[in-house]
Amino acid sequence: MSLAVSHPIISPSILAADFTNLGAEVRAVETADWIHVDVMDGHFVPNLSFGADITAAVNRITDQHLDVHLMIENPEKWVDNYVAAGADCVIFHVEATDDPVGLARHLRAKGVWSGFSLRPGTPIEPYLPHVAEFDLVLVMSVEPGFGGQKFMPEMLEKVRLLRAEIDSKNLSTLIEIDGGISASTIGAAAEAGCDAFVAGSAIFGQSDRAAAVAQLRESAAKQI
Ligand code: DX5
Ligand code: ZN
Repeated sequence: MSLAVSHPIISPSILAADFTNLGAEVRAVETADWIHVDVMDGHFVPNLSFGADITAAVNRITDQHLDVHLMIENPEKWVDNYVAAGADCVIFHVEATDDPVGLARHLRAKGVWSGFSLRPGTPIEPYLPHVAEFDLVLVMSVEPGFGGQKFMPEMLEKVRLLRAEIDSKNLSTLIEIDGGISASTIGAAAEAGCDAFVAGSAIFGQSDRAAAVAQLRESAAKQI
């Protein structure tokens, strides 16, 4: 697990990569900080992506921190498969479990980071008292399920509330944002207090992936 944290953290989502060339795609973004792995089960979200075998394959070809976003039902049943596949951080949705804190403790006991995410319609307030149990909070700035959607700026209010909570208690929990992040939206997310930024189409939709990563990093850094 990579524990050294630089800012801003750029986490390319391989959901937008060319799946016929996944190894080369992962290597093309090695100038980024993490690799974001979007797992969709066709139930929690109306789309299917890939699972633990692809996660393990990605882990075999890179030393990057694997940021695994589980958009699945019954995460309790599946998280161990993702730990075994090499996830460094396992992020599950609070809407999919009755016991987010129990699941976070389970993950930390396995030696990986724990993260929770929430759909745009789910308020952050009930979860603020539990943030210390998590290494990361992933704020969705689109409805989960698909890449290439429009950024929802009103989600930055959740980021501000989280930032205030984390700073007031001096916690090390990271705030990550996911959905519609581009060179034109990343600055506002950085200003609101995000540490880490997922980007799919803004990176893999450009012919020069490394230049896209550099541009995002520069646009975020201006605001920090
Ligand atoms: C959406 C996924 C995102 C998605 C982001 O459900 O969680 O990680 O890949 O894609 P862009 O950056 O294209 O909005
Ligand atoms: Zn994601």
